[in-house]
Amino acid sequence: MASPDKSKAWTALEAHHRKVAGLTMGALFADDPERFGRFSLSLGDMLLDYSKNRVTAETMDLLIALARAADVEGWRARMFEGQAINTTENRAALHVALRNRSDAPMEVGGDDVMPAVQGVLAQMRAFTDSVRGGNWKGHTGRPITHVVNVGIGGSDLGPAMVTEALTPYHQDGLEVRFVSNVDATDLAETLKDLDPATTLFIVASKTFTTLETLTNARSARHWLTDALGEDAVGRHFVALSTNAEAVRAFGIEPDNMFAFWDWVGGRASLWSAIGLPIAVAIGMDRFEDLLAGAHVMDRHFAEAPLEANMPVVLALLGLWYIDFFGARAHAVLPYDQYLRRLPAFLQQLDMESNGKGVRRDGTPVERGTGPVVFGEPGTNGQHAFYQLLHQGPRMVPADFIAAAETHNPMGRHHPILVANFLAQTEALMKGRTAADALAELTARGMAPDAARELAPHKAFPGNRPTNSIFVRRFDPPTLGMLIALYEHKVFVQGVLWGINSFDQWGVELGKELAGTILDELEDGTQGSGHDTSTAGLIDHYRRLSKEAP
Ligand code: F6P
Repeated sequence: MASPDKSKAWTALEAHHRKVAGLTMGALFADDPERFGRFSLSLGDMLLDYSKNRVTAETMDLLIALARAADVEGWRARMFEGQAINTTENRAALHVALRNRSDAPMEVGGDDVMPAVQGVLAQMRAFTDSVRGGNWKGHTGRPITHVVNVGIGGSDLGPAMVTEALTPYHQDGLEVRFVSNVDATDLAETLKDLDPATTLFIVASKTFTTLETLTNARSARHWLTDALGEDAVGRHFVALSTNAEAVRAFGIEPDNMFAFWDWVGGRASLWSAIGLPIAVAIGMDRFEDLLAGAHVMDRHFAEAPLEANMPVVLALLGLWYIDFFGARAHAVLPYDQYLRRLPAFLQQLDMESNGKGVRRDGTPVERGTGPVVFGEPGTNGQHAFYQLLHQGPRMVPADFIAAAETHNPMGRHHPILVANFLAQTEALMKGRTAADALAELTARGMAPDAARELAPHKAFPGNRPTNSIFVRRFDPPTLGMLIALYEHKVFVQGVLWGINSFDQWGVELGKELAGTILDELEDGTQGSGHDTSTAGLIDHYRRLSKEAP
């Protein structure tokens, strides 16, 4: 396949960009009273307003033509058909089967995976009902009060983000916590007020070989067996994995293992057994509501024409700024405290998927690919990094996300929160000229010289693009829709750039070197082949750690 940036559609976009780069959104709104309606999409109660983008109807037509030229429809079909679209690992990427709520079969390699998916869901239901109902007894016969998920990356971020996002649906008296960092502080702080007799560990690892997770799981096991003895492990440890052999070798019984499959990528695994901590926290019915919401977005993605397809439109807008305006970052700004971890989750989803410099055919990409994703919940971000969004020299496109209803109605908090969301997107779009700033300062009585000096600092370039995603409330189905929206957006961008979004070879080199250096740190030998910086740092660590009390 030819490089997408060599296609006719791309060349047409380059010419078009030269024509429209200087247009302001303010003028586009002034010229077209229907702009909001023209550039917004909805699915159920979810509204995506993308009218505050630097696009015209022609831009969108050309971007859609690019999507067609890159065969987004073909790749989408191949994904839903369970073809091995993760070519470097020769695997399907069929996470959509995990939330398939229809009766339709979904196949990988000619086999319908739905019976196995349903089987694990049934196993999860039996387990979560038992834990939540107090019938799963710990080794001493007491019910479980705390569940600790031990995992990292996709085996942590998705479940941790969703569990926190759905806090209003948690069961009283049952708390779910997450440990991911190999820094012992994470485990120590998580366990310090827990009672081993009422604590259950979920060891979540697709491969069951990840050093951080196995190190934490072993230490958790010691913590438990020091208090309750070896025989306690069976009632206090379960595993979520594709690697039954390694789970057994760790000492977890096959009955306490929840399986998933190699066609489930780590960063799209929260819908699989990896979602068990979510299900423990909110119950299996609500976990299935989460799946159902994602399924609604899957059907939309599969069936809506490209121009009315939310993930496709978001993907194209992202590419427009990265490849034609030189944007390098993308902000995700949830105006909802419960969605605090959404940016961290999307960092893995986007940056591990599309942080690639080589195309599917092994040739280097010549354009930008995935952006640096970052964010904080509104309004905290406003008082931290929005300065750069408003006045930094580089454009940073942003997604603003909010709900009309809050789970915690209290005085004027929610309207204040939403007013901030709306004000920020409007301010980013409109900006303020230096002349207006000067007029305002003068009107306030500032001396002309001082006003002229200050005015450039109080000017805002504006014309900064934002997408607004507005929902009724963040409940399980809506959250499912939102996550699936971003999953498909990231997939479509990978297709547009001609890269494989489903592998992650870039994390391997650091892992390999860490293994070698760990040996050197522990046995005191100095490996050859280190640069002087690494060798010097190893020496410094050794000296200081020897002096440690
Ligand atoms: O960071 C690399 C990675 O392979 C992620 O893709 C994955 O989510 C994470 O490590 C954890 O892997 P596992 O679930 O196998 O422990």
